[in-house]
Amino acid sequence: MNSRYNLKTMSTKKILLSGIKPTGRPHIGNYFGAMKQFVELQDAHDSFYMIANYHGLNYIQNGPEMADLTLNLAIDYLAVGLDPAKSVIFKQSDIPEHTELAWIFDTITTMPYLMRAHAFKDAEAKNKEISVGAFNYPMLMAADILIYDTDVVPVGQDQKQHVEYARDTAEKFNRIFGETFKLPEPKILEDVAVVPGLDGQKMSKSYNNTIPLFAEDNEIRALCMKIVTDSKSPDEPKDPSTDNIFALHKLFALDNLAEIETRYREGKISYKESKEILADNIIKFVTPLREKRKAIATDPAKVKAILAEGGEKARARAVAKMKDVKEKTGLSF
Ligand code: ADP
Ligand code: TRP
Repeated sequence: MNSRYNLKTMSTKKILLSGIKPTGRPHIGNYFGAMKQFVELQDAHDSFYMIANYHGLNYIQNGPEMADLTLNLAIDYLAVGLDPAKSVIFKQSDIPEHTELAWIFDTITTMPYLMRAHAFKDAEAKNKEISVGAFNYPMLMAADILIYDTDVVPVGQDQKQHVEYARDTAEKFNRIFGETFKLPEPKILEDVAVVPGLDGQKMSKSYNNTIPLFAEDNEIRALCMKIVTDSKSPDEPKDPSTDNIFALHKLFALDNLAEIETRYREGKISYKESKEILADNIIKFVTPLREKRKAIATDPAKVKAILAEGGEKARARAVAKMKDVKEKTGLSF
């Protein structure tokens, strides 16, 4: 056992942590950018999958809605294949040590450093009013990651900078108070780093341009028809590398991708037909996940019990780590 890191187990597996905010229905960008990796990585890692509800509070300020979104995200996690026998699945707010550690990080972090965060700069550029919670977002995320001695953080490209903030913060704390935190690495699937939305921007719950992962067939068809394209006619050659529909084909058209690509280049497909093929392929892919989700949703008490158990396991680790942090900082003696 490595006592320096307060590891509770003899496991030699690397520690993995990730999370998603409960701010809306997960979409195919969340799935291919994040959730798919979550499932694939859970066997080979000691995995922690969190529902980032404290982060979500920056966006959802309605109690019943937050509770509902949280339970639904837990159901989504289970439906895509996260397995409570392999992974710790929990709510961020069940572990108060995350916010406690975030405060300690706040005290060693400067305002200019946080002002360099992309998320903050974007909000400023759009003249959005930004809450202190949103400004501080990277410090809470650093605490989420560092409190479990996390080695790897599977996320989409847009979260890379946040993981770098966590690394920097670990280094800074270690420099000031002595070796305490491991330096985490982001894990990003390069080929699907950013899934485009219906309008060609990054697919995001905030942009109203998503295809929800568990959508019904008719919703999937209607949304595919809304994908923005240029105005090339059916018999004009088309460039697959700049087309939003084709970018999504790459995720779903595993059997007929080469054929679709040839038809694009040779001007033998209309955007309308391309959208129809895409909708068919998405539906094929989504149907079994959606059925599994419906089955899980029939037993919310079981889902809540999974979260409660995950919360206990995660908390034991977080409490042990905070003991070390409090000793190093002189907060307890
Ligand atoms: P959203 O932007 O829809 O609110 P979140 O910020 O909740 O999504 O992201 C949850 C996870 O999904 C993160 O790891 C993020 O990097 C990933 N993700 C979100 N949107 C995309 C996308 N369009 N392409 C790839 N990954 C994404
Ligand atoms: N910031 C992440 C997002 O918006 C969610 C998140 C919070 C997270 N804490 C985390 C992701 C820790 C990975 C690790 O998607």
